[in-house]
Amino acid sequence: MMHARHFTNSYMSIGSGEHDVLQKYDERNRDLLININGKILHRDEAGISPFDSAVQGGDAVWEGLRVYDGRIFRFRQHLDRLRASAEAVSFAEIPSHESIIEEVRRTLEANGMRDGVHIRLTLTRGLKVTSGMDPRLNTSGPTLIVLAEHKRPVYDKSGLRLATSSIRRFSPDQLDQQIHSCNLLQSIMAKIQANNAGADDALMLDARGFIAETNATHLFFVHGEMVTTSHVLCCPEGVTRSVVLELCRKSGIQCHEGDYELEHALCADEVFCTGTMGELASVVEIDGQMIGDGKIGSMTTRLSGLFSECVADEAEPVLDT
Ligand SMILES: Cc1ncc(COP(=O)(O)O)c(C=O)c1O
Repeated sequence: MMHARHFTNSYMSIGSGEHDVLQKYDERNRDLLININGKILHRDEAGISPFDSAVQGGDAVWEGLRVYDGRIFRFRQHLDRLRASAEAVSFAEIPSHESIIEEVRRTLEANGMRDGVHIRLTLTRGLKVTSGMDPRLNTSGPTLIVLAEHKRPVYDKSGLRLATSSIRRFSPDQLDQQIHSCNLLQSIMAKIQANNAGADDALMLDARGFIAETNATHLFFVHGEMVTTSHVLCCPEGVTRSVVLELCRKSGIQCHEGDYELEHALCADEVFCTGTMGELASVVEIDGQMIGDGKIGSMTTRLSGLFSECVADEAEPVLDT
């Protein structure tokens, strides 16, 4: 389906032009307490050893979680992904879901946090007896880090501007993207390109030239009443993405997963991205070209509403009510 294309002269020309996705320091986080292997430490004291595998080789896996009124949305699904990633790279002594939930609860309680909180949960291969890559140098089990911060969904809801990056995402035969690892250089390099282009985030293609995702979120495209999203061959399966697909199916909204060229996005009526950090956020411009009418579309608004209802119904209690 072809639509008229609207070109703009600069990345600042659509939306408010004022917004900035660069996160700011939040004064409420000044005295954060961080949990490292069960020890609760002030942010100025918390640290991991230079012998930790995360420092030595980015040898760690992670999850981003969001806390809504003492409850965490799709907590089990996040923990399943963390465990599957850790198992795929042969971590020893992976903590049970129950013990991780307990450490998350302790951390939230220690900080007196209940709502509007984002948690970065990291599991590293742990300490090495000497510096080196070989996992046999790890003899003391993994390091679990629970970093909870006051943080509202990070994306400005007035619409994001993307720039296509020349950095391609790995194919499954190069590096299995279902392993949700802390090795983020590829995304960081794409983000640098987006920053340099004056865009909010990077749109990343796979090695074949099909759309994979952004540097941090999954992408959805709306053409008329039809919602589409890329396969997760070259990006991790996303919790938010899977919820949006479920919501489409439950609500009778046609949705398809496939391989899509850049044109599919450029000609869409609406584009939005999904992720725990920013929930659903509208994309109004790609490579200087306006998407649809450059405003947040009705399908994006509808699915955002359904997503909020789903969070309210299904978030899993962690703190006492
Ligand atoms: C590369 C990448 N893409 C997309 C996402 C969004 O996934 P989710 O909805 O599970 O937060 C993440 C989140 O961790 C990610 O690391």
